[in-house]
Amino acid sequence: MRVLIAGCGYVGSALAQELVQAGHTVWGLRRDPQGLPEGVLPMAADLTRPETLQDLPAALDIVVYAASSGGRKEENYRAAYVDGVRCLLEALEPQKTSLKRVLFTSSTSVYAQQDGSWIDEDSPAEASGFTGAFLREGEQILWSWGVPAVVLRLAGIYGPGRFRLIEQVARGEARCPAGEARYSNRIHRDDCAGALHHLMMLPDVQPLYLGVDAAPVELCEVQRWLAEQMGFPHPPVVSDDEAPHPLRGNKRCRGARLLESGYTLRYPSYQDGYKGILQEWMQKNAASVERG
Ligand SMILES: NC(=O)c1ccc[n+]([C@@H]2O[C@H](COP(=O)([O-])OP(=O)(O)OC[C@H]3O[C@@H](n4cnc5c(N)ncnc54)[C@H](OP(=O)(O)O)[C@@H]3O)[C@@H](O)[C@H]2O)c1
Repeated sequence: MRVLIAGCGYVGSALAQELVQAGHTVWGLRRDPQGLPEGVLPMAADLTRPETLQDLPAALDIVVYAASSGGRKEENYRAAYVDGVRCLLEALEPQKTSLKRVLFTSSTSVYAQQDGSWIDEDSPAEASGFTGAFLREGEQILWSWGVPAVVLRLAGIYGPGRFRLIEQVARGEARCPAGEARYSNRIHRDDCAGALHHLMMLPDVQPLYLGVDAAPVELCEVQRWLAEQMGFPHPPVVSDDEAPHPLRGNKRCRGARLLESGYTLRYPSYQDGYKGILQEWMQKNAASVERG
């Protein structure tokens, strides 16, 4: 198959690599396409500038839109999830009839629920604010384009090289709120890639899937576990008001639809996923792991 990955970054590159290994022809599009995995054909273009999209590869079978906003500003979100999608589809118009499928990496942040309730593909996605609104607009543009479109709403992505939570714990900056349980949801980068690969090939694919691992967990549980693995004390417990922003989210995403479609998670739990990442981080920081 001939596959274009538009926004070929952290997830896109992992996907591109596994598609190349499976024998597909893959183009990785980004503004700066240096350093793409071996075998991926680089394409330098800006998704928001139509003049850079005039030489897209022809006869594509699959297009994956995996660009990210690269920042939380309103204009960045509009560019990444609305303008970029519109421009790309416009550029793909001449080959629309032969395209088999388009996929879009959206986010579970489109759900506003904060009461610990369970979320699935049928739950209302009504997050207020521009982040959810632009993501949902991008989804709608894709679904209404006329080519079978699959949206994968991903939870927080973690994986190799992404050490934010580990470093927060290691620096003693992690905090646990004292109140009731607050659930967080995550997915390993390689499961993002694996799920996209699976959904590309799935015969009876549906328009929407959640991309999450097997179980939501309290962020505190993950932080405590990481602290134990590194031999540090548990993060201090603080009042809810003092807890950092990510700890205020609280929903439980259910990934049953993806699993029932035949996908097997490579990293069902955070423990499975973080083992290798911790090792990678510890090797990199061997000299400075002990906190003074
Ligand atoms: N990170 C999370 O926890 C999370 C959670 C839920 C959903 N998601 C979604 O999952 C997807 C993949 O995330 P990721 O972590 O792989 O993102 P990433 O590493 O930031 O990669 C995004 C890629 O998009 C490219 N890009 C951005 N704007 C572009 C533009 N105007 N034209 C061309 N390329 C552009 C960037 O490359 P250049 O800068 O070189 O152009 C970058 O390589 C994104 O859609 C993201 O919104 C992420």
